[in-house]
Amino acid sequence: MSSNSDTQTDADRVHIFDTTLRDGEQSPGISLNAGEKVEIAQQLAKLGVDVIEAGFPIASPGDFEAVQKIAREVEGPTICGLARAQKGDIESAWNAIRESERPRIHTFISTSDIHIQHQMRNTRDDVKAGARAAVAHARSYCDDVEFSPMDATRADVEFTAEVCAIAVEEGATVVNIPDTVGYTTPAEYARYFEDLYRHAPSLHGVELSVHCHDDLGLAVANSYAGVLAGARQVECAINGIGERAGNCSLEEIAMLIKVRHDAHGLSTGINTRELARASRLVSRLTGYVVQPNKAVVGRNAFAHESGIHQDGVLKERATFEIMDATEVGLDSNQLVLGKHSGRHALRDALEQLGFSVDGAALNQAFKRFKQIADKKKQVTALDLEAIVSDEMRERAQSHELAGFDVEAGTDREPLARVRVRMPDGREQSGKASGDGPVDSIFGAIQAATGVEAELREYHVAAVTGGDDALGEVTVILRDADRSASGQGVATDILEASARAYVRALSNLVDGAGIRRSESGSPESAEMAGP
Ligand code: KIV
Ligand code: ZN
Repeated sequence: MSSNSDTQTDADRVHIFDTTLRDGEQSPGISLNAGEKVEIAQQLAKLGVDVIEAGFPIASPGDFEAVQKIAREVEGPTICGLARAQKGDIESAWNAIRESERPRIHTFISTSDIHIQHQMRNTRDDVKAGARAAVAHARSYCDDVEFSPMDATRADVEFTAEVCAIAVEEGATVVNIPDTVGYTTPAEYARYFEDLYRHAPSLHGVELSVHCHDDLGLAVANSYAGVLAGARQVECAINGIGERAGNCSLEEIAMLIKVRHDAHGLSTGINTRELARASRLVSRLTGYVVQPNKAVVGRNAFAHESGIHQDGVLKERATFEIMDATEVGLDSNQLVLGKHSGRHALRDALEQLGFSVDGAALNQAFKRFKQIADKKKQVTALDLEAIVSDEMRERAQSHELAGFDVEAGTDREPLARVRVRMPDGREQSGKASGDGPVDSIFGAIQAATGVEAELREYHVAAVTGGDDALGEVTVILRDADRSASGQGVATDILEASARAYVRALSNLVDGAGIRRSESGSPESAEMAGP
């Protein structure tokens, strides 16, 4: 039902441009450090995306460093850096991506009158000159240059076509048509592409791209309409994260293209079996929980509740299912280890999950596995993935939780004592009382480390179902102008909370948190104009 034909040609191939680490990372409250961004980028490469938009290098030194690290370390996809139509931005983007095997500069400038008059406060002529100079400058560094007329769908199509034709003349290889505020509709967006091709025939010589926001819940539908109208690149993000209501969801558009191959004859290079893992990783690192009924990757996306549906699926899957959980990697929970499983079984299971762990890392993972297996009846693939990710993160942290205990009862204020291993290897302890055990632990960690920060967010989620599920905690901390997140996994929520807090604090102290300022956001950064 969802297989692609063997007669696929290049013209039928839709390129997937992932912007989880750029537009997605602009979602409120998300602050990934460079190591976490590389971890996501490696998973995106495994997933088979064609392009990774790794960040907006001019926005902050942290953004620059993360993009550069991805360009150096991640093999396979094109690595793209975003730049306003300004010299400094383009230079910064180029310096960040230049070591990639396949670098791309993505430069943008608005073509809508509303942005030109009120945001940039200049004229259409300035926009044409800015686009020309930006693309020419980017092409002087890089053979692959993408141009976006921002807010295109609210702009005069003839003027946008004129600006796009200038970009093509200056050597743009991809022209992206953003629905920046999620305003268009599928029919209107398709017509917009037809009009663009009519007014600027040179667009037939480059790849057109769609970039749709989800403000009216139409991001996937609009992207699909753009593809049917001739675009061959879709800009999207894992779990649909992004500015405001988010971007087109990568997993949804990838499965739409795969499952409905019969309707359009198109395909992508996505290894769909990696979708669920990518979704979990992004959710875990950003703290953005995936709703249970989310299409394709939600916990209930393949669950049948009604008796009629269950009966039908038992008789013949196709009665109520249009895709299989295995196709998107949601079946990995079937892999189970028990309390008596040994080191070899653990290593084999981890290998099946795509982790190659040996030596000290395997010993440490085995130690954690045994601790968890003592408390849980069965350790599933999802548990293993959570433990290994947790251990990998532990090794990258400057501060480490060395131990804690909490005295609590109904008739007394809880008292927490913690020990934290500091960056120089010394252990420091602290104690504190608070409103509850978690609050006391957080206070004790502050006392031990001497670092004070405001707790912005605290989430608890269960890794799997059942009353013995592993708990996964996400903490977001903030100091004067920086925010940083940390995650922790354990069977005990207090331990998971303590781990998550120490990690967030580590990220904050190490300066890994991303500075948030108005000019850090591309949508507002363009105010200065080209
Ligand atoms: O939504 C938008 O217009 C963007 C551009 C920078 C492409 O994100
Ligand atoms: Zn966007």
